[in-house]
Amino acid sequence: MALRKGILLAGGRGTRLHPMTIAVNKHLLPIFDKPLLYYPLTTLMLAGVREVLVVSDAADLPDLRQAIGDGRRWGLSIQYAAQVGPRGIADGLLAGADFVGGAPFCLALGDNIFFGHGIAEILADAAQGALENKAVILTQTVAEPRQYGVVKLDDQGRPVLLVEKPIDPPSNQAVTGIYFYDSRAVEFARQLHPSQRGELEITDLNRIYLERGDLSVKPLGRGIVWFDAGTAQRMLLAAELVQVIQSRQRTGIAFPEELAFRLGLIDLRAFALLVDDMPHGEYRAYLETVREEFHVPAKVQQ
Ligand code: TTP
Repeated sequence: MALRKGILLAGGRGTRLHPMTIAVNKHLLPIFDKPLLYYPLTTLMLAGVREVLVVSDAADLPDLRQAIGDGRRWGLSIQYAAQVGPRGIADGLLAGADFVGGAPFCLALGDNIFFGHGIAEILADAAQGALENKAVILTQTVAEPRQYGVVKLDDQGRPVLLVEKPIDPPSNQAVTGIYFYDSRAVEFARQLHPSQRGELEITDLNRIYLERGDLSVKPLGRGIVWFDAGTAQRMLLAAELVQVIQSRQRTGIAFPEELAFRLGLIDLRAFALLVDDMPHGEYRAYLETVREEFHVPAKVQQ
């Protein structure tokens, strides 16, 4: 069995990005050359997810659907579900209850960006944990743990404490925005009560697993970059980093077309046709370099 399902959360208020988010869903704002949502979507693809449910406010679903479609051209299935108001990340998970239908799944925050050496292996490993009846979270050392969910580990790397946005952080290990759950997650999420800020907290769900001894923590090494692009400063930093890596190393970050091809979800011909159908510009120019790597002439004969 493999973990095939993923929930991609693209709701929320986006208040920290006001006024950019008055008319546009945060996840459609650009990070350098592509919409923010492309980054967590490709992270899900790397984790092995092939069926995606995008969850957002009903009013934003048409725009999101227009941006990424039904996923077929990338060898995926992408569906959409409404969350009634931004009532928390665990509430967004519950909007996907029918979709997951008792299977293990991955939950990704739509504004979290991951890349770097070895990320595919880490994600595959975490997905395996969910198949073995655990919840798996990925953590990163951060300078400012007060802004995040924070986990404290014992000497053996086992989690002993989880706190959301602590005033006095017990460690500098922040919980990143990708979570892997076994089939009990929906049932546990239904037991949660809103926090003081009126949200169903993902930290509370993870704490249920922690208390049962079923929470596994995987630290991301220093070679992995993780961004939560929820503020203008971090959007800019993420964009700069993506631009530097893409231009200096000619490695694309978060191109769903390239990844679908490299993962074998679409064949070379389908990939080449996708590139042909694209307007000319920097995004297409990068994909043309990938196509040339596989010796496909600029225009595929139909
Ligand atoms: P946050 O950044 O915590 O919240 P937000 O997007 O509402 O932004 P702000 O704090 O600036 O108002 O959300 C993290 C991610 O989870 C983000 O991608 C949006 C998503 N989300 C939902 O889909 N539903 C929700 O109810 C919440 C709270 C967040």
